Amino acid sequence: MKRRVAILISGRGSNMTALVEAAKAEDFPAEIAVVISNKPGAAGLARAQAAGVETLVIESKPFGKDRAAFEAELQSALDDRRIEFICLGGFMRLFTAEFVRGWHGRMLNIHPSLLPSFRGLDPHGQALRAGVKISGATVHFVVAETDAGPIVMQGAVAVRDDDTAETLAARVLDIEHRIYPDALRLVAGGGTRLDGDICKTSANASPDDSLISPSVI
Ligand code: GAR
Repeated sequence: MKRRVAILISGRGSNMTALVEAAKAEDFPAEIAVVISNKPGAAGLARAQAAGVETLVIESKPFGKDRAAFEAELQSALDDRRIEFICLGGFMRLFTAEFVRGWHGRMLNIHPSLLPSFRGLDPHGQALRAGVKISGATVHFVVAETDAGPIVMQGAVAVRDDDTAETLAARVLDIEHRIYPDALRLVAGGGTRLDGDICKTSANASPDDSLISPSVI
């Protein structure tokens, strides 16, 4: 039985699209049952509809600071659809600790940096200002703290001297679209286990698992 997944978005939804595409494979252990946006104008909604996935808008703005009331409506939509896992894909709204606890080990997020470095806004600008030579993206389980929680999968790219936040973001986004479906496949397929703050996995590193940057040859 495929695990039932909801993807939560606020914007363009390119990671959502990557997940929806991957989930079309017969052997994928999860199905995308619904895409929910907290913003009515999110471009990702049209992309999800075009892919034949149910979409739902639960606008967060009318709830103002009342996060719990927004989450109650969200939870009931998730319950109605017997959702087992949540994937956040550029979902720009913080959750209460209580909501996060209820989804412990069942809610994933993707962040465009090698966590725990460069949490929060402008991760690519942060990476460039720090002068790191390797950056990337991280899929992790969601905990109450923003852009933190047990790491499921990471992918890396070399940072170039002439990178801008935009060029780096574009290369990292390609990595995001590769690792998010792989991470969901792993988690939904039962290939991960939480050991406190650490996510242990049955998968191996890829054969080309070293990346040295810059390269001198
Ligand atoms: C992605 O780059 C994702 O990693 C980032 O928002 C973008 C959403 O793009 N998420 C965060 O920064 C979370 N802190 P998308 O809507 O095209 O998937």
